[in-house]
Amino acid sequence: MAVKMDPNTKKVIDALNKARSMELQAIHQYMIQHYILSELDYGQLCAYVKLISVDEMRHAQRFAERIDTLGGAPTCDKAGGVVQGQSVKEIFPFDINMEANTVKTYNELAEICHKAGDSTSAGLFHSIISEEDIHLAYYKETAGHIATLGDVFLAKYVATSKHTGPVKSFVKVMEKEDF
Ligand SMILES: [Fe+2]
Ligand SMILES: [Fe+2]
Repeated sequence: MAVKMDPNTKKVIDALNKARSMELQAIHQYMIQHYILSELDYGQLCAYVKLISVDEMRHAQRFAERIDTLGGAPTCDKAGGVVQGQSVKEIFPFDINMEANTVKTYNELAEICHKAGDSTSAGLFHSIISEEDIHLAYYKETAGHIATLGDVFLAKYVATSKHTGPVKSFVKVMEKEDF
């Protein structure tokens, strides 16, 4: 006979799965934007958005591993649909909203984990929030430059390299650059 799951554990698994579904949505959204920026030949902007998408893949996996440890089943559903066909001037303000919403929601979900007595899951949320903050800062900075300088700012990225090399994490790139 299956052992009935503790209600607090169920709450934590639901919180982790909500976050995982948000990560799956972000992965797809940023990958679509990465293809758009590649097509427009904005090399480094394209590379960075791709690396951020890879960060979200790592987050989705970290949530899945915790869900698995707690005896739950990691969801494969996205939290919502993805937007196609954005212009370069639409992409970064849109991403600011995505990341800001993620930080707000993850703080709420971390609180649920705390109240359920699971400080390990709460700690996972806090660790991931600190990386989302780095994404948010980059999107804000880029959107700000595009808003104030427009094509002058964008022109410096045309035909730059979109290769990401062996680096697999945007957060690590930013740490190296003392962002
Ligand atoms: Fe994430
Ligand atoms: Fe993010």
